Amino acid sequence: MQAKKYSIDKTILKRDKIPNHIAIIMDGNGRWAKTRGLPRIAGHWAGAETLREIIEFCSDIDIKVLSVFAFSTENWKRPYEEVSSLLNMLLYYFKKEVAKLDKNNVKIIVSGDWRVLPEKIVKEIDKSIKLTEQNSGLILNILLNYGSRQEIVTACKKICEDVSQGKIRMEDINEDLIAAHLFSCQIPDPDLLIRPSGEIRISNCFLWQIAYAELYFTETHWPDFKPEDLYKAILDYQNRDRRFGGIKK
Ligand code: IPE
Ligand code: IPE
Ligand code: MG
Repeated sequence: MQAKKYSIDKTILKRDKIPNHIAIIMDGNGRWAKTRGLPRIAGHWAGAETLREIIEFCSDIDIKVLSVFAFSTENWKRPYEEVSSLLNMLLYYFKKEVAKLDKNNVKIIVSGDWRVLPEKIVKEIDKSIKLTEQNSGLILNILLNYGSRQEIVTACKKICEDVSQGKIRMEDINEDLIAAHLFSCQIPDPDLLIRPSGEIRISNCFLWQIAYAELYFTETHWPDFKPEDLYKAILDYQNRDRRFGGIKK
């Protein structure tokens, strides 16, 4: 465990500069387990517990959207045992946690090609989405079997189809139209993208959506990432000068 370097003082957070949308690439579970002599899957279970705390903290400080990268289109390259344990864990958490999330007014959405997953998982996800649909609190966007390039390819195909069928004209294609064809069409772009575990890369997460996101990298492995670490990331974010290509006011 890392020594706690920050205690949380919510009054220090600038209310007018809270990021609307935080995205997290939940990485480092395997290495966390390895340093403890545990199997990789133990790291995934520990990571799931971290997620529970982070969701609570995000609700508490009025974050509007929390996106979490849970399984990428490239993660199928992993050994069968790891993938199948991960999917079982996912099913377990959907069954166990969703009622609580619903009670806390969290709305669950899932981005990615998750309908190809085993039927019992698909059913559970469908149920969770329906159950929490009307909730007005934190939107929890779970990226599941998600790959940003795949997402963009799918959007291109749909747009081409619409052009070829005469539903839209080529001149109608613009940034808004492309964004409207992405999984994230109902949510704003991330303001802050966090990647724990020491890797300084994006790994096919939100390539379109993070055009102007603030990036935050930390050495901490995801299972050790605590609300204090998120608080620290948000404080860092609040000191950034977002210019969007313009000049400082
Ligand atoms: C992230 O942790 C979880 C998933 C990708 C599903 P990893 O399993 O990638 O952990 P490391 O990167 O090997 O430590
Ligand atoms: C990114 O982590 C995907 C998720 C956290 C779900 P990876 O561990 O798969 O990424 P790489 O392989 O280190 O780039
Ligand atoms: Mg990894």
